[in-house]
Amino acid sequence: MRVTAKTRVCALIGYPIEHSLSPTIHNAAFQHLGLDYIYVAFDVQPNRLQDAIAGVRGLGVHGLNVTMPHKISIIRYLDELDGAVRNIGSVNTVLNSGGILIGYTTDGVGALEALRHAGSDPKGRKIIVLGAGGASRSISFTLAEHARELIILNRTLEKALALAKDISEAFGSGVNVRADRLSEESLEAEIKDADVLINATSIGMRPKENETPVRRRLLHGKLTVFDIVYDPIETRLLREAKAAGAKTVDGLSMLVYQGAASFEIWTGAKAPVEVMRRAAIREVKGKKYRHTGGM
Ligand code: ATR
Repeated sequence: MRVTAKTRVCALIGYPIEHSLSPTIHNAAFQHLGLDYIYVAFDVQPNRLQDAIAGVRGLGVHGLNVTMPHKISIIRYLDELDGAVRNIGSVNTVLNSGGILIGYTTDGVGALEALRHAGSDPKGRKIIVLGAGGASRSISFTLAEHARELIILNRTLEKALALAKDISEAFGSGVNVRADRLSEESLEAEIKDADVLINATSIGMRPKENETPVRRRLLHGKLTVFDIVYDPIETRLLREAKAAGAKTVDGLSMLVYQGAASFEIWTGAKAPVEVMRRAAIREVKGKKYRHTGGM
């Protein structure tokens, strides 16, 4: 990679960011397309976020990815917000457009594209989402507009109900969304005629890779099972889903498609997703990660 005086800088800000795959994914893509961009990562503690954004403005950093714990708190420092951000309430991508900082979220789109590219377009489907945290919020808001029926199941019922209510209020009668407590009974009742099951919890992530949110006997061959956990790449849930004849989508796929959407916002170029995925796999296999659907 040749860095020149004209090289545009994109950066990840988060805390901690040392395990992030994003620099590998994006630099591989810039290099593949011969774009004069570079991607770096900055550890930004919560009390330095405002300074960091002033730095972005002062230095003319071209684009940002934003991860925990800044996805919500960054909003107040930005100039404009994409429509989806107003619903979802978090930002993972910033474009510096001639000094105007515009916030976007590509988490939900990453999940949608990962499903579509696996041949499981969520349009008209019954979808179950496990979890009601930040990752579930982005995914559920995005998929609710496409699904025939969206069911949010969460250990803490109140959080599932609140998320379902937010989605219903945002989209009105155009969406069909329900919530229940995550339990063997609720799963058994809902999974029989479901088309897509998404694990948006951290269950099954290393070092607890022996755990799974869904008992094996409930999985069936008509399902597409999508796990946002990407360490390990093949979680116990995905392994058992495959054995039950289900189609599977891994968390690395979501990471790559969400990165691809950010890449396209910064560069206007079509992202080379296969190059990005191969770079991510090489990096994951060589190291240990402790992240779920983060960057
Ligand atoms: P993220 O931003 O990755 O979504 P989060 O906002 O902390 O992280 O949300 C984590 C989600 O995983 C929540 O839905 C959480 O359930 P609760 O709302 O009940 O806490 C879920 N989760 C994490 N560990 C879990 C476990 N062992 N069993 C069931 N759900 C779990």
